[in-house]
Amino acid sequence: MCGIIAYIGPRQAYPVLIKGLHRLEYRGYDSAGICLVNQHLDIYKCKGKVSDLEKFVADKDTSGTIGMAHTRWATHGEPNQINAHPHISQNQKLAIIHNGIIENYASLRSELINRGYKFKSDTDTEVLVHLIEDIQTQEKLDLEESVRIALNQVIGAYAIVILSEDHPDKIIVARKGSPMVIGIGKDEFFVASDATPIIEYTNNVVYLNDEEIAVLERNKELKIKTIKNKIETPYIQKLEMSLSAIEKGGFDHFMLKEIYEQPRSVRDCMRGRINMEKGIVHLGGIREYEQKLLNAKRIIITACGTSWHAGLVGEYLFEELTRIPVEVEYSSEFRYRNPVLYEDDVVIAISQSGETADTLAAIDLAKSKGATVLGICNVVGSSIARATHAGVYTHAGPEIGVASTKAFTAQVVTLTLMSLQIGHLKGTITRSRYHQILTELDTIPEKIERTLRMNEKIKEIAGIYKDVKNFLYLGRGYNFPIALEGALKLKEISYIHAEGYPAAEMKHGPIALIDEQMPVVVIATKKGTYEKVISNIQEVKARKGKIIAIINEGDVTVKQLADHCIEIPETEEMLVPLIATIPLQLLSYHIAVMRHCNVDQPRNLAKSVTVE
Ligand code: M6R
Repeated sequence: MCGIIAYIGPRQAYPVLIKGLHRLEYRGYDSAGICLVNQHLDIYKCKGKVSDLEKFVADKDTSGTIGMAHTRWATHGEPNQINAHPHISQNQKLAIIHNGIIENYASLRSELINRGYKFKSDTDTEVLVHLIEDIQTQEKLDLEESVRIALNQVIGAYAIVILSEDHPDKIIVARKGSPMVIGIGKDEFFVASDATPIIEYTNNVVYLNDEEIAVLERNKELKIKTIKNKIETPYIQKLEMSLSAIEKGGFDHFMLKEIYEQPRSVRDCMRGRINMEKGIVHLGGIREYEQKLLNAKRIIITACGTSWHAGLVGEYLFEELTRIPVEVEYSSEFRYRNPVLYEDDVVIAISQSGETADTLAAIDLAKSKGATVLGICNVVGSSIARATHAGVYTHAGPEIGVASTKAFTAQVVTLTLMSLQIGHLKGTITRSRYHQILTELDTIPEKIERTLRMNEKIKEIAGIYKDVKNFLYLGRGYNFPIALEGALKLKEISYIHAEGYPAAEMKHGPIALIDEQMPVVVIATKKGTYEKVISNIQEVKARKGKIIAIINEGDVTVKQLADHCIEIPETEEMLVPLIATIPLQLLSYHIAVMRHCNVDQPRNLAKSVTVE
């Protein structure tokens, strides 16, 4: 949720930290702060975005070659200067930044208050820095050991960085449940919540594991031990991310760039996985688990938000192609409701970030009940990718905009490939049908490109409806999850209330909302329940609602009924979500821009939700 960056080495730390914070700002942006170690701990923090922090420190001394910085998404304590990180110990000698939640902070806090500690903030984080000071002074232990002992008392999730005035050449880092990457350069170390701020300096990284503490010292080797005091050998990996992938590349917003990247990201997701000549799908990551999927009595898909919508498309795909019953669960519900799970269930966890706390907990639960858990993640090396038994990466490339776009289409492509392959191996689809779908899948990137050409038309429609208060999105079959996804996109970035519904459910309630003020986006592509959806459009028109229809190119029937039409190429019914979602992404993008909303960093949201 929060973004963390730290640096030690020969460079001036401040520019590295500020640049890094900008790259991590998608993780949280309600306050920011920085700490540089010189004679003392120089700490500057303020409410607002990283640019506000830059203005705040403009006239301050920002020299120093060791430091850390933080961009916050508030959990405990409102977003203000006092609650912003870093937090400092009572003796002013230790500073901490933290991503995660210390669940037992209240009891630790009252113990520390009884021992004379005075708290300045309302955060859970401040508890930890006082606790470390307390252990250091009471038990006369060195800093590393004090951190280790403190972490053994903590319940919850953390990624922390600690700096000490007494150790101006040392950074201590630890994680549990929140991500942390260490970049290893020549005589320098970088620490960050993800690899995006590191990639321009080095591609040698170590992903810290849960309950590991790393010590980064000037001119020394990286040291790692667990909180149980076991020494670990750092496992250095090569990053395969390019700098251009995390920059806007001439687009006004990351979201728009990522929408336009979809022909490529969909292609990348399929690359090397479909052999058109032989007509086979190869998903190396789950090869050893194919048999588990073939024998599965049930598949349970667990995810949150947009990834959950991809999961719903997955349900339709798996059931149609493999005849295996599928349930789709919100991770946050699944983890707490004592679900019935069997050893021959296969659980598929979907997550762009690979860090979503609820999905991680759902995975742990499923594993504890003996189920096989497969992951579909975008971020390589992420916690979910590592927590699952096996998985498939979506290869959509870094997604920086908080609203998920290209990750969604890549998740749907991945689910299509998985279900096709299992259906093929199981014999629940014929060989010719399998080939037909694969061949059509190969045309999707070009069809997305054609759909993107509707941008100007979509912008016009956005201009007409940008000031309305409510939107309804309707779809049936494979297009129902797309209606949900379209509504989510609109509400999260434009703050317009929107609801997605299966079109036929409208008459059971939402139809009461319809009047001449209500725009209704209907996905009315041919095949499937096309005729039924036309009837639903008639029902809306009869009540003077405004119809924005997503139709297939050349469809004259819906054109006569709808107020506005966005034409998309025809494809297999099960592949329509990959195309129909594009105009809905663009519609919400343009409406949000016209409403002067911060598209890439919508209020109250963060890209990866590492708290429950
Ligand atoms: O990283 P994940 O896919 O696990 O994230 C799940 C949701 O938080 C995410 O999809 C969220 O709903 C997006 N902001 C939607 O655009």
